Amino acid sequence: MACQTWPEPVIRVQTLADSGLTAIPKRFISQTPSSTFLHHTASPPSFSHDLNIPVIDLAGDPGEMLRLVGQACRDWGFFQVVNHGVRPDLMRSARAVWREFFNQTPEAKEKFANSPTTYEGYGSRLGVQKDAILDWSDYFFLHFMPASLRNRANWPALPPSLREVVDEYGEEVVKLGGRILKIMSRNLGLQEDYLLNAFGGEEGIGGCLRVNFYPKCPQPDLTLGISPHSDPGGLTILLPDDHVSGLQVLKDDRWISVKPLPDAFIINLGDQLQIVSNEIYKSVEHKVVVNSQTDRVSLAFFYNPKSDAVIEPAKELLTEERPPLYRPMTFDQYRVFVRTKGLCGKSQVQSLNHYNN
Ligand code: OGA
Ligand code: NI
Repeated sequence: MACQTWPEPVIRVQTLADSGLTAIPKRFISQTPSSTFLHHTASPPSFSHDLNIPVIDLAGDPGEMLRLVGQACRDWGFFQVVNHGVRPDLMRSARAVWREFFNQTPEAKEKFANSPTTYEGYGSRLGVQKDAILDWSDYFFLHFMPASLRNRANWPALPPSLREVVDEYGEEVVKLGGRILKIMSRNLGLQEDYLLNAFGGEEGIGGCLRVNFYPKCPQPDLTLGISPHSDPGGLTILLPDDHVSGLQVLKDDRWISVKPLPDAFIINLGDQLQIVSNEIYKSVEHKVVVNSQTDRVSLAFFYNPKSDAVIEPAKELLTEERPPLYRPMTFDQYRVFVRTKGLCGKSQVQSLNHYNN
């Protein structure tokens, strides 16, 4: 089970970066310059720097849109959506209030310091393994859904508009998540409400926001903003920074940099969609690289199953050739792993597929 406290004093990466150090502490070194070289520079000629994740116009022709979403879910597990119905000014305000939060003094932020019991609040690590390698980022994590877990008193009080902006932003993003689940349900040949119901229904779904802050880094080739992982939950709706990229997605064993379009959201599938779809859809590994020039803020909204929803492959998708690949498990049981060990690629979902054991 999750521990009550962190195993060692928490290092705020932003404070470290602001101290003007020129070499990063050993704890943050997860890359050797040569592996960076392999991934970024020495790619075979087939590597295309223009390759980008699919972009889907949600206001486009409905039939075509359904087909494109299905294709993106099967081939990439990642796509960008435009004309998604969330107001661009709200997206900008959401980024702006969180940037302001992170720009406050360390003392102001420490008031919201989190613990591994709920993870809610200001944090700098995931997992409670002592001496674990650390990522070059801080974050703020909060619960938005179900409404009973939405405790605004745990959210930053400053800037003064933050709580209101987060409330409105969260409502809009939850609506968008619901729409995308419907599209996916239909694309899989299921009832329109299938995935929403599997996740616990409109009132039951779990929605959390993790705002990531990636400070500038003097040795960006030696570390990562977030190590490779797949998101454990349902669907992630990511609002990336508008002036710097950093997200990379694994596609056919290569890391592809995502180039965010203005006012678009980046959508990716989490492990629970891989399980419910019995691997017709797959969650995809991704990571974040940092740079020495500028910091970066992103808002990851996790649209998750209800904590006690039992997640299992949809019966409607099972055939003799395609028997269930996973045993039923509640989302809570699933999440304990990540909250204890931190992020490790796709090792968890892979280990649960019983044909891999
Ligand atoms: C995450 C994540 C990507 C980003 O928070 O799970 O993958 O670009 N974030 O910040
Ligand atoms: Ni992620």
